[in-house]
Amino acid sequence: MGAVDRRGPSRGAARDGRYLGAAVRIDQIEAEPRLAEAVLRDCASLTPEIDMKWDALQPGPGEWRTGPADGLVAFARQHGLAVRGHTLLWDQSTPAWVRARLERDPGDWSLVADYFKTVLGRYGAFVDEWDVVNEPIDTGVRDNLRATVFRKAYGPDYVARALHEARAHAPHARLVVNDYGFDYDNPVENARRAAFLRLLEDLKARGAPLDGVGVQAHLDLGKGPLKRELLAPFFSRIADLGLGIAITELDVKEHDLRGDVAERDRQVADHVQAYLDIALEQASVTGVTTWGLSDRHSWLQKKPVRPTASPAGLNRGLPYDGALTPKPVYWTIQQAMLDAKASPMLTNR
Ligand code: XIL
Repeated sequence: MGAVDRRGPSRGAARDGRYLGAAVRIDQIEAEPRLAEAVLRDCASLTPEIDMKWDALQPGPGEWRTGPADGLVAFARQHGLAVRGHTLLWDQSTPAWVRARLERDPGDWSLVADYFKTVLGRYGAFVDEWDVVNEPIDTGVRDNLRATVFRKAYGPDYVARALHEARAHAPHARLVVNDYGFDYDNPVENARRAAFLRLLEDLKARGAPLDGVGVQAHLDLGKGPLKRELLAPFFSRIADLGLGIAITELDVKEHDLRGDVAERDRQVADHVQAYLDIALEQASVTGVTTWGLSDRHSWLQKKPVRPTASPAGLNRGLPYDGALTPKPVYWTIQQAMLDAKASPMLTNR
């Protein structure tokens, strides 16, 4: 085999300076040379799918498991790729010992302060953007803040406080709040967009060091069409607050996993095309990360299948199929990145 084909048509970063990235796991990259090649061909930015979450990094008090995150960061550095730090505070990835401590001693911020100090101290120099708080919002609850372990322990100010804490240890990184469920026209997602905007306005009004937002964009063919009249104003209201917007976890959930594969792939590609048409029109969108590259590794996979097995059961919502062959949505994403207009935010940096 000759030299690795280093870059696909979009060269990871589009002509306008926006980046294309993917969530990855270093164990999978190391085990699968073809996955590593795809990563190097397509990505300018990597997000650790699992390895930088609190329960992965610190499974017990005083017990650190930094090997996988170190490996991922080393791989990114070796190949000149950016890293998105995902994620400092997320209810779902909070280790049991932290939960127990916070239940016993709510209000003890030292846990968070010590954790941020260690993680940002270790990775700060190599990570240009942090999802400081992941999935903070909810609807139909007090303050529209999800009743997470952190909301319960520290009260509604915890998001601002976490941003300040992160800034103290990461003076130059872009600090981001990342959330999901903004994409469709239904009562829940309409309320979630409004709740997210209120949170952002509140954080800005109070001077919290917030640089941008992450819009996860876990799309779902079962949730109906994407509506420009809802999404475009959502993006522009975020931009009007002076915030950058990263599309952080793009993938597409299918519902009929046994239908005609060509037809399914066309629907996935069309849906992503519609989404990126709207998102990339907004100049403050800095880049797009897919939540994985190959369907074989997708968190949306319904049941384990071998790479060569029948596609039934495998959600086909990522750029490559289970055998690492690019699908129509791969070319849709590549072309959308090439077509996208310049992002002044990035070129001014
Ligand atoms: C998911 C990973 O993909 C899974 O492998 C893991 O078991 C749970 O987390 N929103 C997020 C991501 O912000 O961190 C989640 O990743 C997917 C939903």
